[in-house]
Amino acid sequence: MTDMKLHPALGMMLAAALITAAGGLHAASGDPVAGKQKTSMCAGCHGIGGYKTAFPEVYSVPKLGGQHASYIVKALQAYKSGERSHPSMRAIAAGLSDQDMADLAAYYAADSVKSAGK
Ligand code: HEC
Repeated sequence: MTDMKLHPALGMMLAAALITAAGGLHAASGDPVAGKQKTSMCAGCHGIGGYKTAFPEVYSVPKLGGQHASYIVKALQAYKSGERSHPSMRAIAAGLSDQDMADLAAYYAADSVKSAGK
């Protein structure tokens, strides 16, 4: 679990998101098995093993494995609503239902063990 090299600012955001989550936000209950089947459209960018793209000049893609499920759902909803503006994630999130988001979040949240050290 010590492989999380969070950028300080990202760590702050994550902490803030967790506090928000503790304040009573409940994600729809997700099914990690169904979620896994939906990751084919995410894996190209969010490879589970490494959380940066191999190309030096390419965008650093956030690691999803091990993130809190409610944080992932919140992030996806923010892309869908336009609150977050990254173009490729907005396009992806626009096609996801609440259930898709919950399933994907359940899968990625459960992935912390497998993604460590790979
Ligand atoms: C075309 C590449 C691409 C694809 C495909 C893609 N993502 Fe992303 N994703 C990104 C990038 C780049 C970011 C960082 C964007 C930003 O800075 O807002 C991101 C951010 C995220 C975040 C926010 C993470 C954080 O730490 O704040 C989540 C959650 C996420 N993606 C989930 C998914 C899911 C689930 C899928 C599949 C349904 C998916 N993404 C498909 C490139 C992609």
